[in-house]
Amino acid sequence: MAEGRWRVKAIEHLGDRNGESGLKRSLGPIHLTLIGVGSIVGTGIFVLTGIGAERAGPGLILAFVIAGFVCAMAALAFAELASMIPVAGSAYTYTYATLGELAAWIVGWCLILEYAIAASAVAVGWSGYVTGWMNGAGWQVPLVLSSGWFDGGILNLPAMFIACVVTLLLVVGTRESATVNAVLVVVKLAALTLFVVFAAPHVEARNYQPFLPYGYGGVVSAASQILFAYLGFDAISTAGEETRNPSRDLPLGIIGSLLVCTLIYMIVAAVSVGALPFETVMHSDEPLAFLVRALGHGTAGDLIAAGAIITLPTVIMVMIYGQTRIFFAMARDGLLPPVFARVHGKRGTPHVVTLATGAVITVMAGIFPIEDITELSNAGTLLAFIVVSMAVLILRGTQPDRPRPFRCPAPLLVCGLAILGCMVLFASLAATTLVRFGVWVVIGLVVYYVYSGRRSPMRKPPAPTVAP
Ligand code: ALA
Repeated sequence: MAEGRWRVKAIEHLGDRNGESGLKRSLGPIHLTLIGVGSIVGTGIFVLTGIGAERAGPGLILAFVIAGFVCAMAALAFAELASMIPVAGSAYTYTYATLGELAAWIVGWCLILEYAIAASAVAVGWSGYVTGWMNGAGWQVPLVLSSGWFDGGILNLPAMFIACVVTLLLVVGTRESATVNAVLVVVKLAALTLFVVFAAPHVEARNYQPFLPYGYGGVVSAASQILFAYLGFDAISTAGEETRNPSRDLPLGIIGSLLVCTLIYMIVAAVSVGALPFETVMHSDEPLAFLVRALGHGTAGDLIAAGAIITLPTVIMVMIYGQTRIFFAMARDGLLPPVFARVHGKRGTPHVVTLATGAVITVMAGIFPIEDITELSNAGTLLAFIVVSMAVLILRGTQPDRPRPFRCPAPLLVCGLAILGCMVLFASLAATTLVRFGVWVVIGLVVYYVYSGRRSPMRKPPAPTVAP
């Protein structure tokens, strides 16, 4: 057996098999699918549609197809691992079981980008809709108080406000938050339906010409940004220890919610670039509402904006939820201070780590622009997807007989396509994003060698992680 950083953790020892973690098993398949849709449909479709149109023109539709396809491949890999290892921690936990501690640490470190940074990005997206609505209502919001320091302003106060509110909701308890989430998902779908109903009658074939004004390069660049719209399906797998029947419900929730969302995105993207020339929406902070208003439906535009304002917080909620559960798993493994794994005695939620994570997300949302942070979030996600797809192939080889309640079909093809697709999208990210990502990984390595790696229980004489 390898030592220290290369040692893998036996699946039997992952997470909490005896219900000792204190997390309540309260979630069923409906909750999980709603968590999926609640976390997937958000800023990506409501806000980044404009940025995507700027990069790809009408080819935005293809960008959604490409990003959706890559996510679907990765989702199948996620679903297999989620059914085999239904404990908190997502890709971080899977990597611990296959590629060892150091790789798991790097993945956990990258998932901070996927979840925490994504939560900040969605808060900034929410701020765009709120600010637009307030300005429309005659309450002019000064730019310096609605844009972050690195975005031409000082502080994005609306974004900070919503990040705080969502954090407090999560501290109150998973069950209550999931129920609120369910109601808001319905409102979100209603807002998108309204958009399609009012904009689709204006679709004209000439708006799709030329279809690829910036070539395929523009489409792939847009896809690397639009990928953000699909993030969130793997957040379902972080709820493994709070799910009643995880082996069955986690794969169902992941694949089902991704399929539903992909369908919705195809329709909304086709209508967005078909109803008016794509240049119309590309500079708006609230493109869907803006487009419908530009078509002469002011009230419908306001209702769509209201839908985004009411519902985007569900996305922030699931992102913070996922982040805290990953921190929770890393702390339980000894890679983060034990306080990160402390669970509230009555509520059964990891309240300390939730508050700490929420504070960081609030500050990030307050100072950064949306385009930069969504790309950075995508970089971390793509790496995690690659590792998960590799983990499926490795486990098929090393543990072929282990029960797999959900089996990824044609694993070589599916995981191979996921890895290849993620690499292409990764390479299409902006150079500044890749540099920032590199810096983040280097910081992670330093933290590992200075702190986490030394404290890891895997370095100590063998002892079972969970008492029999
Ligand atoms: N997929 C999520 C969104 O679009 C992160 O906001």
